[in-house]
Amino acid sequence: MTQQQIFQFFKKHLQNKFAERELNHLVRIYGEDKPIHTEEQILNDVTKLLNNQPIQYVTGLSYFYKYKFKVNSHVLIPRPETEELVDWIIKDHAKYNVSKSLIDIGTGSGIIPICIKKENPSWHVDALDVSEDALAVAEENAKLLEAKVQFYASDFLSESMPGMYDIIVSNPPYISMNEMDRMGESVVAHEPHIALFADDPLIFYKRMIEQGKNHLNPDGLVYLEINEFRKDELVELYQNCFGKLEFKKDLQGKYRMLKLSHPLS
Ligand SMILES: C[S@@+](CC[C@H](N)C(=O)[O-])C[C@H]1O[C@@H](n2cnc3c(N)ncnc32)[C@H](O)[C@@H]1O
Repeated sequence: MTQQQIFQFFKKHLQNKFAERELNHLVRIYGEDKPIHTEEQILNDVTKLLNNQPIQYVTGLSYFYKYKFKVNSHVLIPRPETEELVDWIIKDHAKYNVSKSLIDIGTGSGIIPICIKKENPSWHVDALDVSEDALAVAEENAKLLEAKVQFYASDFLSESMPGMYDIIVSNPPYISMNEMDRMGESVVAHEPHIALFADDPLIFYKRMIEQGKNHLNPDGLVYLEINEFRKDELVELYQNCFGKLEFKKDLQGKYRMLKLSHPLS
């Protein structure tokens, strides 16, 4: 099918669901990145979109920072606030020409360590996730983007980290089960619950205290994505463990990031 035929096809079936701009974006993805050409294949994808499957899972692609990543239903769809977290780390260290070691906890599709490695090729970058399916996606992305990241299958809550680091970064699961009702239907129905929910929404943050103590180099830093509603609880949790807490708002004006420095022994 030609681009024009694909556009007309999408328009016919999806114009009540997507704006023209989104339809054009979809057509561009099909033209450039997902060259499927039969009407049957496209109809199959249209059905998925009509069933509220996220576009990124249907096309298998997501754009994050400056790069294009493969995604599937085993990994969280990259979010703009995570892009801001990555940007914070990159800008914080751009002025120093010093090689660092970094680990990303709960790496999902690998977006965080891959972007950081691409911007800082001399850094040693590791990443871990408990999900082998997610790690397969992250490894594929690292290969496609030619980023040398070492991935580990590991449970952050019960195992120790594979090394010592200058920087630990994480966007952990931080949504409690009783917040599920407030979330979009498409997120709850299609994104992996292991990536979103935790019985105790602070459990990964609590574990970070012990892991930070044992695996951060002196003067090390921890960068975390956080739930906008948990700032006060995090102050309480960390104020006696780290000398400095720096919260940062995202572009929506919500506190979604936290930097911890000067770990106290
Ligand atoms: C919120 S997602 C973040 C994914 C990716 N870093 C991003 O920002 O898009 C959390 C990730 O933590 C992983 N995870 C969940 N429990 C874990 C555990 N106990 N140990 C390590 N990783 C875990 C999930 O598989 C998921 O990939």
